[in-house]
Amino acid sequence: MGTLFSERVQQIEKSAIHEMTRLSKEIDDVAFLSWAKPTSGTPDHINRAAMQAIEQGQTGGYSPSEGLAELRQEIVAKLQRDNQIEATISQVLVTVGAIEGLAAAVMAAIDPGDEVILPSPTYSTHIRQVQMASGIPVLVPLLEGDGFALDTKAIQRAITPKSKAILFCTPSNPTGTVFAEPALRELARLALANDLVIITDEAYEYFVFDEHKHFSLASMPEMARHVISCFTFTKTYAMTGWRIGYLHAHEDWIPQIKKAHIPFAICAPVVSQYAALAALQGPQGCVDEFRRHYRTTRDLMCQRLDELPDVFSYQRPGGSYLMFPRILVEEGKDSTSFCKRLLREAHVSTTPGVAFGPTGESHMRLSFCVPEETINTAFDRIERFIQGGL
Ligand SMILES: Cc1ncc(COP(=O)(O)O)c(C=O)c1O
Repeated sequence: MGTLFSERVQQIEKSAIHEMTRLSKEIDDVAFLSWAKPTSGTPDHINRAAMQAIEQGQTGGYSPSEGLAELRQEIVAKLQRDNQIEATISQVLVTVGAIEGLAAAVMAAIDPGDEVILPSPTYSTHIRQVQMASGIPVLVPLLEGDGFALDTKAIQRAITPKSKAILFCTPSNPTGTVFAEPALRELARLALANDLVIITDEAYEYFVFDEHKHFSLASMPEMARHVISCFTFTKTYAMTGWRIGYLHAHEDWIPQIKKAHIPFAICAPVVSQYAALAALQGPQGCVDEFRRHYRTTRDLMCQRLDELPDVFSYQRPGGSYLMFPRILVEEGKDSTSFCKRLLREAHVSTTPGVAFGPTGESHMRLSFCVPEETINTAFDRIERFIQGGL
C-alpha cells in the first residue's frame, strides 16, 4: 500500500503536536500548555457581523479568488497604519489563514531542489511546507544564549548557489523571540545581495511586550520584490476556526501566488471574509486586552519557572504567547519521552521541543495563552512530579 503514496507526503513525519493532543485525550483532567491557539472566544461584534452576512445572503457563493475588494481595502489601510507598508490593493491576497498564504507563497517561489533557510527551532509547519514544494529545508540555529536571536552570520554562511528563500516567523513560534530590527535589516541586505526572497510569517505581530517592537521587512521600499509577508486574523482576533488570513507582496508576485492559491482554495471562506472585515473596522480594544492578558500570563509562567532553576532554564519571550525552556535534567535530553511522562504522570500537556527541528531537542514548548489558573495548576503538578523523583 505504501507505494501508492507520494514520496512527498511519505517523507513528512507525523506531527508531534497532534500526537500529544491524541494522547492527552486518553487522560482525564489535563492542564494544557501545549496549544498555540487563543483560548478566548472570538469577540461578539465579529460573530454578529458574520451572522448578519449570512442572513443577508452574502455568503453562499465564491468571492473573487483574491478576496473581497472591501476587505482588501481595509487590509491596505491596516498595513499602512500598523506595518508601515505602503501597500496597494493589487498587492493583497486574502488566504485561508496565514498557513495557506505561506504554502502558496512557498509553491510560487520554490522549485524542486531549491534550498530554503529556516532559522531554527521554528514552526514545524514551515519545514513541511518547504518539503511539500520539494524544496530542501536548511535549518540554521538561532542564538539561544542571546534570547534565540537571529544568527545572521550563520545564515550568510548557509547561503549556497541553490538557496532561494529565507522563511521565518517573528514573533517566533516556538521561542517567543521578536527578531530585532537591525538583524532583520541585515537579513534584507543578504537577500538583496544574493537574490533571495524572504517569506515572513507575522501571525503574532500584535503580541509584543516590554521594549520589543515588531518590524515588517516589507516596510523597506528596496525589499518590494524580495519579500512576501503573511498575516492572519487567527491570533489577533481569536479567530482560529474561521481560517482567514492574507498576504502582501509586490503586484508582480500576486498573479503567480494566485496560481497556487486557486487549486488549493479557490478563495478564502466568504463568511470569514465578512467576519474579518468587521474585525478590522470594529473596536480594537479586544487586541489590547489579549496583549495585556498574555503579558500577565507570561510573567506568571516565568515566575513559576524561576522557582525550578535546577530543572529548567529559559529565555524570556518578548512576544507571541509561547516560550521554549531548556530541560536541564538528564531525562529532558529526549524531549518526547519527557513530555509524554509529564502528560501521563503529572497530567500536564506540553510540546516536545524536537517537534520544532533537531535544534529544539532538550526543550519543551509552553503556551501561555491560557488562564492564569491553568498555569498555576500545571506548575503545581510539575513541582510535585519533580519532587516525586524523575
Ligand atoms: C507561526 C504561526 N503561523 C501560522 C499559524 C497558523 O495560522 P493560521 O491559523 O492563520 O493559518 C500558527 C498557529 O499556531 C503559528 O504559530
